Parts: sequence; C-alpha cells; structure tokens
Amino acid sequence: MQIRENIKLASYTTLKVGGNASYFAEPTSTDEVIDALRWAREHSLPVFVLGGGSNLLVSDAGFNGLVLHMAIAGIDTRADGDKRIYSVGAGEEWDTFVARTVEDNCAGVECLSGIPGTVGGTPVQNVGAYGQDVSETIAQVSAIDTTTLERVQFDNEACKFSYRQSRFNGCDSGRYILTQVDFALRADGEPKIAYADLKRHFSNSIAIAAVPSLAETREAVLTIRRAKGMVLDENDADSRSAGSFFKNPVVSVAEYEQIAAGSSVPVPHFDAGQDLVKLAAAWLIEQTGITKGFVLGPVGISSKHTLALINRGGATAADVLELKKTVQRKVRERFGVELHSEPVMLGFNSPEKECP
Ligand code: EPU
Repeated sequence: MQIRENIKLASYTTLKVGGNASYFAEPTSTDEVIDALRWAREHSLPVFVLGGGSNLLVSDAGFNGLVLHMAIAGIDTRADGDKRIYSVGAGEEWDTFVARTVEDNCAGVECLSGIPGTVGGTPVQNVGAYGQDVSETIAQVSAIDTTTLERVQFDNEACKFSYRQSRFNGCDSGRYILTQVDFALRADGEPKIAYADLKRHFSNSIAIAAVPSLAETREAVLTIRRAKGMVLDENDADSRSAGSFFKNPVVSVAEYEQIAAGSSVPVPHFDAGQDLVKLAAAWLIEQTGITKGFVLGPVGISSKHTLALINRGGATAADVLELKKTVQRKVRERFGVELHSEPVMLGFNSPEKECP
C-alpha cells in the first residue's frame, strides 16, 4: 500500500471544498489498515478515515495527518432462517449494496436508496431516510480499535444507535475504524412504506390495496430524492452538498407549544417520545426568510431542499461556515432553538464528546 503526500481532499468530498491531507493511503484489507495505523503511530500523526466524503466538511487548512480512504471491498451473503446476512466491506459504495439487496428481493434497506457514500460510514451516524435507518438491520460491525490495533466486533446493541448517532460518532468518536458491516435482511420481505412522502407517491400511482415491490420502492425513493437534489448528479448544482447540513432539532413539548403559540401557521412536528418533539429544521430555517435558492457569495441553499447547503462554485470551507453560522443565528433569534450541524468536520477544533 502506497502512502502519498499532499493530496487535495476537496475532490474526495461531495461539497468539493477543503485543503490537503499531508498523507493519504487506500487500504484494501484489514491488515493494510493496521499497517497504516502503525505507520501513523511511528510518525506521531493523527488518522482520519474517509469513506464517500458525502457527509464531510474539510477545513481550508486541510488535515495534517494520514487520511485512510477506505477501499475494503466485497459483498458476501449467507442464509440464516428467513433472514439473509450480507457481510459488506466498509469501502463498498452504499447504493451498489442497496441495489444488490433489492435485486435479491431482500428487504430492510430499500428506503435508503440513492444515499451517497460508502457502507462503512453508515453505522457511524446511523444513516436514515424515508422511515428507515441502518440500525434496524445491522447485525454486527467489525472494526479495528486504534488504541490497541486489535480487531473487535460489536453487535447491534453495543453500537448504541439513536437518531443520527452511535458510539462511533459519540463517546468513542475516532477510536474505531470500521472494516465490515453485517446486515440481516428479510428474504422475500415487504418494503417499509411508512414515510409520508413515500405513501403519497404510491397513493398517486398504485391501487391502495397493492403492496409495492422492493424494486418499485427503490425507484420511488430515487425519484423523490432526485426531486430534492439529494441524488449526486454532476449536472445538478443542487447536489453539490453534504446532504442535510443540520439535524432536525428535538425539543420539549413545552418549547414546541411556545413556538406553536407564536406561529400563525401550523408548525410541522413529529413525536420523539418521552415528552419530546422533533421539529423540521428546514421549516424553521424558511420561517427566518432564508429559503430555497438563497445565495451568500459562492455558497447558498439548494433550490430544491432548504436543509442542503451547496457550493455554487469555488467556495471555501470558510464560506460554508459563514452560511452555517448565519442560519444558526437566525433560527436562534427567531425561535430560541439551536440547530446542530450534521456533517463531520475535519481539520477544525472539535469539542470532546461524553459517553452516555
Ligand atoms: N420542509 C420545509 N422545506 C424544505 C424541506 C422540508 O419546510 O425545503 C419541512 C416540511 O414541513 C417537511 C419537513 O420539513 O414536511 C420534513 O422534510 P423532509 O421530508 O424533506 O425531511 P427532512 O426532515 O428535512 C430528513 C433527513 C434526510 C432524509 C429525509 C427523508 C435529517 C437531518 N434529514 O430530512 O436525510 O433524506 O428526512 O427521510 O434527518 C441527510 O441526513 O443527509 C439526509 C438527506
């Protein structure tokens, strides 16, 4: 495995901003990852694992360390009762895997069609969309513990999944390098048609009694995502983004009621259990006057979805941060709600995270 120097990271991210990595390698096996970690240790360098770069903002200064662009490939399957287990290399394209499961008529990840990035990134932030998230089907995660260089495994519970969270981006952020993910899918299972957009799509096109196939569900999700600029497409400037830039904020019922009382229109909200309510970040942002197509120099808001901050061409990480701060300030001033960003930040100072 070759270790290269001064590699521009912008082209490895979907936002297309950011400086150089001092060192860059593409491990194709667990052993190569361990070799690379030893090398970094000998040179006292920090390590960052890069997957598809679809949920990542790299600073303009870049990263003074070793970037491991994960290239572990392979999709193996085996039967386990009415389940089919897929063992997938961390470097596989996520959507290639999803397409394969749909072809095999196995249910469980069909609503996650069209999400950019690689398989190894999906447990980290418990990727979710259209009523499904990966915590529903992950059976096991294989990883390397960077503190001991040993191979370790986590079952579903040990991953500590919640909304856009797991131990891998929480208390153990940076500690483990994910090498393989095992998914337990339902052979010949039915698709999950739970999300409003998806139900609406099918109620317009299919008789209510008919259950759509997994392939029809995948096509429906791709159509809806495309309409929101959430499918990577070189010809769609709205897709030069990191997906949703902000998480949907979870507030207390009392806070929600206060916001609803001050609003002349209904406030979109979703039950989040335990006296909590999830608000739609996109809606909150729009109420402040920052709407689709908003422009701030070389950055802006997608013309198709308010949660996507886009690089309109030639943007720097500083430009993206300025827009992020503007959006956060306006929502704070108007609603007293703090919006937290979703993408991983590389090359910035980040606060320590606490174990739950
Ligand atoms: N809305 C607006 N304006 C918009 C878009 C949405 O006001 O431009 C409001 C509407 O009230 C709408 C509500 O927000 O009903 C929810 O919108 P949407 O269904 O588009 O979903 P979202 O909450 O904005 C989440 C995920 C997306 C995922 C979609 C679909 C987060 C932070 N984002 O977005 O995930 O694709 O649901 O399931 O949870 C990502 O994380 O990168 C991502 C794209």
